[in-house]
Amino acid sequence: MTRGKLITFEGIDGCGKTTQLRMLERILTGRNIPFVSTREPGGTDLGKMIRAALLNVSPHSVDPLAELLLYAADRAQHVREFIAPNLAKGILVLSDRFYDATTAYQGYGRGFDLTLINQLNNLATGGLKPDVTLLFDLDVATGMERIHRRSGDAADNTTDAQADRLDREPLEFHERVRNGYLELAHQEPKRYRIIPASGSIETVRPLVTEALRGII
Ligand code: TMP
Repeated sequence: MTRGKLITFEGIDGCGKTTQLRMLERILTGRNIPFVSTREPGGTDLGKMIRAALLNVSPHSVDPLAELLLYAADRAQHVREFIAPNLAKGILVLSDRFYDATTAYQGYGRGFDLTLINQLNNLATGGLKPDVTLLFDLDVATGMERIHRRSGDAADNTTDAQADRLDREPLEFHERVRNGYLELAHQEPKRYRIIPASGSIETVRPLVTEALRGII
């Protein structure tokens, strides 16, 4: 059986990748294409606990090295329990973030050595790479504005809709993350598709289907 394809969605906080993933799900369902969707952190039961431990706590309470290792632990479980078995069954897997997020946030953002990050990513994934990575590229000010609008709307306490720990990092951190992602896209042009994400949901949607032509 041919292995399923892995499509990952990346970008700074507020870039709209999760909304676009949901739109793509509808398109795939309409075309009767079997798929599963998932996310990091939090794609497994263990991952949900790691996600809560990482994101729903006060700033500065997670040491940067502990943070790096927790994302890697989440990923190791996720690849082995969920992603690899689905790919082996020939199913298309959509993932809201994958190891590039560690390179962008913990590597470029926090400043961990990129060689170490690559080794850790490789260990966690067992060498598994996405077939396509969609990078939703957006200026940081717009991303942060979207996040804060969203958290203002979330007075009903849905924790994921509230500004989480990394969203509260300074603008320069998010600038480094954005530039890190662009650097990664530059290094792997075959795998990456850069999607300009400043437009409305409806403007960005056709860019996603266009970027995935020949894949779905
Ligand atoms: P999300 O809001 O896209 O679900 O991502 C949760 C946060 O976790 C987001 O601020 C990015 C961050 N993150 C990392 O810093 N490193 C990682 O490896 C992953 C997967 C996410």
